[in-house]
Amino acid sequence: MDERIWAEQVSEKIKRKMRTVAERSRDKIPYTTVDGVFDDWRKKDICWWTNGFWGGMMWQLYHATGDAFYKEAAQDNEAWLDENLMCSRGMDHDSGFKWLPTAVADYRVTGNPDSRNRGLLAANDLAGRFNPVGRFIRAWNDGGEGGKAGWAIIDCLMNLPLLYWAWEEINDPRFLHIATMHADTAERYFLRRDGSVNHIVEFNPMTGEYVQSFGGQGVAVGSSWTRGQAWALYGFTLSYLHTKQERYLEDAKRVAHYFIANISESGLIPVDFRQPIDCTWEDSTAAAIAACGLLEIEKCVDACEKHVFHDAAIRLLTALEEKRCCWSPDCDNLLEKCTAAYHDAKHEFSIIYGDYFFIEAVWKLTGQELFIW
Ligand code: GLY
Repeated sequence: MDERIWAEQVSEKIKRKMRTVAERSRDKIPYTTVDGVFDDWRKKDICWWTNGFWGGMMWQLYHATGDAFYKEAAQDNEAWLDENLMCSRGMDHDSGFKWLPTAVADYRVTGNPDSRNRGLLAANDLAGRFNPVGRFIRAWNDGGEGGKAGWAIIDCLMNLPLLYWAWEEINDPRFLHIATMHADTAERYFLRRDGSVNHIVEFNPMTGEYVQSFGGQGVAVGSSWTRGQAWALYGFTLSYLHTKQERYLEDAKRVAHYFIANISESGLIPVDFRQPIDCTWEDSTAAAIAACGLLEIEKCVDACEKHVFHDAAIRLLTALEEKRCCWSPDCDNLLEKCTAAYHDAKHEFSIIYGDYFFIEAVWKLTGQELFIW
C-alpha cells in the first residue's frame, strides 16, 4: 500500500478510537491500563514524570481535529499540574516532559499568559538543577541526602527543549548555555564510540569529575537500554534543531545508525539491545520515540541520505501498527508491550508516552503535528 495512504488510514483509526477513550477518561491523567482501562495518576501521584503526556495527546488531537473537547481536556491536565509546580520534592529533570506538552503547548496555541508563566517557572527550576563544575543537569531527587546529587541521565536530553524555549521566549541566553553545556556533557560521557549510550552517569558533585556509569533501566553497565538510545537519538536531534550546531546532528545520526543496525527482522524493539539472547521482552515505547527522532533527522540531512532515516521510521511504525496496537474502542491504550525498566517485576504493558509518541510520529507523516519539543 502507498505509504501516505497507510499513514492517513492509521491517523483516522487513531482519531476514531481516541474520541471515545478521551471522553471516558475525562477526569484522569493516565499512565497505564488495568484490564484495558486507564488508571489515574492525578490521584496517585501528581508529580509522576509522565503526567504531561496525556495533555500532549489532547493537544495533538485538538491540532488535528479542531475539536474543542480535546483543548479543554489538555487545559485541565495543565491546571492539575500546578500542584506539582508548587511541590519542590516533585520537581526534577523531567520538567520538559511535564510542561512542554501542556503549558508550553497551550501558550504556543492560545497565547495564554498563565501557561507562559507555568512554562517559565518550570524552566527556571530545571535550569536551577545545573551543576556548574560538572556541567550537567542533576537527575532525580533523593530525599535531600545528596546521594544522587552527581547523577545525570540520558533521558534529560529530551527535557532541554524547555530551556531552549525559555531562552527564545525571554531572550535570556543563560538557558541556552545550560542546555548546550549539558548536551556537550552527554556527548562526552554518555555517547559511546559505537553509537550506543549509557543510561546513568555519576559525577562527583563537588569537583565535577566522572565517577562511574550505571546500567539504569537497562540490563547492566555497558548494555544498551533501547528507550535510552531513543531519547538520545531524538534528544540530540532536538538540540540540533534549536541551536543549529552541526555536531549535535552528527551525534544524533551516530545513535540513529546504531539503532537502525539493531532493528530486528520483525521491526519490534527489545528492552535492551544487549539483553540475553533468550529474553523476548519488548519495549514499544522505544520504537515510537525512535521513529519520531528518525523522521526529524530525515528533515535535516541531504536528499541522498533521507531514505535511511525515513525507511527505518516506517519499518518501526508499520511493525507497531500491525502487531502492537490495540484498535478496539473498548480498550483505552493504543500501544501494547511497553516496558519501563528491564529489572522491574512487570514487563510488556501499556504506557502513556508510547501512545503519545506513536501519535506524534503518525502526525509527522500526515502533516498534522503540533511541534511540542
Ligand atoms: N525517563 C524515564 C524513562 O524513560 O523511563
